[in-house]
Amino acid sequence: MSISQIARTIGESATLKLNEQAAILRAKGDPVIHLGGGEPKSKAPVDAIVAAAAMLNSGEIRYTPADGTPAMKAAIIRYTEEHYGRKVTPRHVMASSGAKQAIMVALQAILDPQDELIFPAPYWVSYPEMAKLCGAVPVPVVPEDGTCVPTMEDITRHVGSYTKAVLINSPNNPSGQLYPESFIKEIVEYCEDKGLYLIMDDIYHNLVFDGKKTANCYDYAKDLGDKSKLILVNGVSKGYAMTGFRIGWAVASPELIEVMVNIQSHQTSGPAGLLQKAAVAAINGVQSSVENLRVQLQNNRDIMMNLLDSFDGVKVAKPDGTFYCFCDFSCYEKDSTKLSKFLLDKVQVVTVPGVEFGMEGYLRLSYCGAVKDITEGIERMKWALDPNSPNELYIGDRKLVRDWT
Ligand SMILES: Cc1ncc(COP(=O)(O)O)c(C=O)c1O
Repeated sequence: MSISQIARTIGESATLKLNEQAAILRAKGDPVIHLGGGEPKSKAPVDAIVAAAAMLNSGEIRYTPADGTPAMKAAIIRYTEEHYGRKVTPRHVMASSGAKQAIMVALQAILDPQDELIFPAPYWVSYPEMAKLCGAVPVPVVPEDGTCVPTMEDITRHVGSYTKAVLINSPNNPSGQLYPESFIKEIVEYCEDKGLYLIMDDIYHNLVFDGKKTANCYDYAKDLGDKSKLILVNGVSKGYAMTGFRIGWAVASPELIEVMVNIQSHQTSGPAGLLQKAAVAAINGVQSSVENLRVQLQNNRDIMMNLLDSFDGVKVAKPDGTFYCFCDFSCYEKDSTKLSKFLLDKVQVVTVPGVEFGMEGYLRLSYCGAVKDITEGIERMKWALDPNSPNELYIGDRKLVRDWT
């Protein structure tokens, strides 16, 4: 079959593939524990459900403006003022079908073929493929000090004449690390000075623990006028546990938003009206579900960190936010794909190989699920990996016998 050169460079989403594999095994009756998930398990806010149900009952579900409904844009403006202290106008915002689409459209608006997009590793699995979809070149930056937190030197070392944009995600998927305020300040100032686009993927900004706060990029931008190259991406997927509603957005200069809206208008048109209705209600409604989720995730994080302590030689930095931790399992196996497959085959625990996030030897473990799953999942992993484990493990009435060393 003849397919485009760009399409040939695009790999499948490792995380979506794992979800599929887990669903197939579950359907077969296998007692799978999914520590690879990327979505909170709590229900969507009641306000969102009620609003969407009312609209659905009306039977009037139509096309929406390509940049989002006026109510959606008003909600985004309100959100931006409340969380970032910045007043923007409808010309500064575009609603999309998820933060993913907002990022993709932003990249299509700014990247030419051969341009380079810099982002720190570990990175969200979609960033490299999104750059490639634009014909551009992804430039992942692995922190030199062996941590999951980049320094300005790490970034500047990779900036060259082809660099067009920098993409930052803090708190970070997969490490859960919050980049220091000083780094955000410097990267905002640096990109402004150099005339580089800076995309801040803040999708996890309100899922932060231990009283910490996500740095606000607008605190450090000197010029937020029509020529500003700062793009802030956000959405309802994570904080409001509304992943399936597919509503995200971008806040940027009116000039850039206009270009992005043109692109989106030919790709998907405006996001589904029903789902925008739900997102508006979530943003404008009672906010307790976000805080409840945050507290629950912090508790889950603590449980997972305690359990991980029992592994000899596994290194992990305590996550400041999100619902992931990124653990260095290289003392057991350096090939993360092999290790992840081993854990799925032997003890039916789904993990995501670190190599998918640009760092080999690591596994991403999610703590967005039930405490029982976190506990049992880590215990099964320990049994599979620790050579001193007993020979047998019971999963329900299934007996597993170690036939490996
Ligand atoms: C870092 C990061 N950015 C963006 C997204 C996409 O969010 P959405 O579901 O709103 O498209 C995700 C989802 O996993 C993510 O982890």
